[in-house]
Parts: sequence; structure tokens; C-alpha cells
Amino acid sequence: MSQSACLIVLLLSSCASGLYPTAHNVSWKSTNFKTVLSWEPKPSSEYSYSVEFSQVGKDKQRTPHCIRSTSTVCDLSGSLTNLTACYTADVLSEPPLGATSDLTEFPHTSSPRFCPYKDTDIGKPDFEIQMNKDQRKITLNVTDPLTALFKNGRQLTIRDVFTDKLQYRVTYRKNKSSGKKVVESKSSVIEVTGLDAEESYCFSVQVFLPSRVEKQLGEMSLTKCSTTDNHSIIKEYSLVVIAGAVLFVVLVTGIIIAVAVICYKQRSKGLKGGRKAVPLQGV
Ligand SMILES: *[C@@H]1O[C@H](CO)[C@@H](O)[C@H](O)[C@H]1NC(C)=O
Ligand SMILES: *[C@@H]1O[C@H](CO)[C@@H](O)[C@H](O)[C@H]1NC(C)=O
Ligand SMILES: *[C@@H]1O[C@H](CO)[C@@H](O)[C@H](O)[C@H]1NC(C)=O
Ligand SMILES: *[C@@H]1O[C@H](CO)[C@@H](O)[C@H](O)[C@H]1NC(C)=O
Repeated sequence: MSQSACLIVLLLSSCASGLYPTAHNVSWKSTNFKTVLSWEPKPSSEYSYSVEFSQVGKDKQRTPHCIRSTSTVCDLSGSLTNLTACYTADVLSEPPLGATSDLTEFPHTSSPRFCPYKDTDIGKPDFEIQMNKDQRKITLNVTDPLTALFKNGRQLTIRDVFTDKLQYRVTYRKNKSSGKKVVESKSSVIEVTGLDAEESYCFSVQVFLPSRVEKQLGEMSLTKCSTTDNHSIIKEYSLVVIAGAVLFVVLVTGIIIAVAVICYKQRSKGLKGGRKAVPLQGV
């Protein structure tokens, strides 16, 4: 009796999981704490996906935008609030939105474990080259990359999250040579010293997190090269400014002349008319 009941339940549940295919390739993609869970395949109209996530050892939670959805991605950036904790997520195959089902358990696939602080990839930073009077020294001004995290309405930077654990690694070489050198800095304003004057150097910058076991290095920035002439940037800049100023003066002068000519013509017309009129009155 109870055996056959078991069998029926077993048949039903296997039938149900046949109805709703389970998700596969459930994986995390995370850069600068923008964390997206994705999976396959696209659901048919017969079913939908819901995501449940939990901090390891804690209760499962759902996020409203990933319930009974036809999407195969779920952005959990704002949900994984304890950055130093580790999370797992389940992708459940459920009836479509609005449909009901007698089942209480739906087939699911679990994600690998994800720990934001350790696992998120760090994107490429941007930086500016600042020349110094002393040509043997170049300053790089790095912009700390923004994260997908907000606190009190403010978007946090990588530095807000990693604080004093954040470092930058600068890789540089003479423009003409392939021999590379590396400097690391805890500051976003990085002085590279011991350079040869009158030489162009090429720099690239990446985030360096020595406290991490894996993924210590972030994505490499674009390479930027210094100009050999200390003042050429200023020269180029002032050339543009001068050209702009000249153009402006020419334009303004042109307008003044045009207006003056028009006024003069109209005035002389008026004067002529006046002369004609005045003698007539006098007669
Ligand atoms: C998805 O998973 C299947 C096996 O479940 C595997 O063969 C395939 O390579 C995976 N695809 C991707 C893009 O990871
Ligand atoms: C975040 O998670 C870590 C590791 O599980 C834990 O030690 C810490 O107390 C948690 N912090 C908060 C604010 O819950
Ligand atoms: C670095 O650049 C930012 C803007 O890009 C600027 O506000 C800041 O003053 C610069 N810092 C230094 C030391 O030049
Ligand atoms: C550096 O080298 C690149 C080609 O490798 C060249 O286009 C660029 O003008 C050079 N910069 C300077 C300042 O010499």
C-alpha cells in the first residue's frame, strides 16, 4: 500500500521534472561587483525560471525581478549585500507567471559558490599621464573604477570597497623598446621615477590585490604613451585655444562690420529720404 503510494509519487515527480526542464550551465559572471547569474536554455512558454540565493548557511531569499521570469540571467549585484560572505543560488524551473501547479517542489540546479570580495573580476582602470618639470619623473593619475554598488545613494569605487588592500600595478617600457618594468602603488596618483629624459614611455595600469589568493590582477588598461616634449601638450592645447580665439575675433568682427554696413545703408537711405522730404516742405 505505502509502497505503491511511493511509486505514484515517484512517477509524478519524475513526470514533473520532465515537464519543466532543469537549467544547466548555471554560472556567475561578476566584474566590479556587478554580479549576474546566468544559465541555459531559454525556456519554452510552458515554464519559467525563479532564482533563490542564500548566504552559505543562511535562509534562502528571492529577488523580485527574478521570479517566474522568462529570462536566463539574474542580476544579483544589489542582493549579495555581505561582500565578504559566500553565496550559492538555485535556478528553479517553475510554471509560467500566472499559471498554477499542484507541485510544491520544482526541479532546480544549484550554482557554484560565489564570494563577491574574492571572486569578482576587476575591470580596467583609466588613467592620465602628467608630465613633470623633472623629465625623469612621470605621474600617473588613475581613476578608481566604479563598482555596481551604492551606499546612501552614492556609487562606490573599487577603493571604497578594498580600502587599503587596493594597489595598482603599472607596467611600462620605453616607447621604442620591449623591455618592461613594473611598479606597484597603494595610491591612485603614482609617480614613476628613474626615467630617461627626452624619451617617450608607454604605460598600462591594472588593479593589484595582493591579499587575494586568486584573481590578484585586474584587467589591463589601455596603453598610453608620454610625449617626448615636456611642453607639447600645453603647446597643442594653447594652439587650439589661440585658433579658437582668432576664429572668434574674426567672426565677431565680421558680424560688427555686417551690422555696421547694414545700419549705414539704411541710415543713408533714410537721410536721402529725409533730404527729399525736407526741401519739399520748405517749398
Ligand atoms: C554547457 O554545459 C554542457 C554540459 O552540461 C557543456 O557540454 C557545454 O560545453 C556547456 N556550455 C558552456 C557554454 O559552458
Ligand atoms: C558577512 O559574512 C561574513 C562571513 O560569512 C561574516 O563573518 C560577517 O559577520 C558577515 N557580516 C555581516 C554584517 O553580516
Ligand atoms: C587626477 O584627475 C582628476 C580628474 O581626472 C583631478 O580631479 C585630480 O585633481 C587629479 N589629481 C592630481 C593629483 O593631479
Ligand atoms: C610611441 O610609439 C608609437 C608607435 O609604437 C607611436 O605611434 C607614437 O607616436 C610614439 N609616441 C611618441 C611620443 O614618440
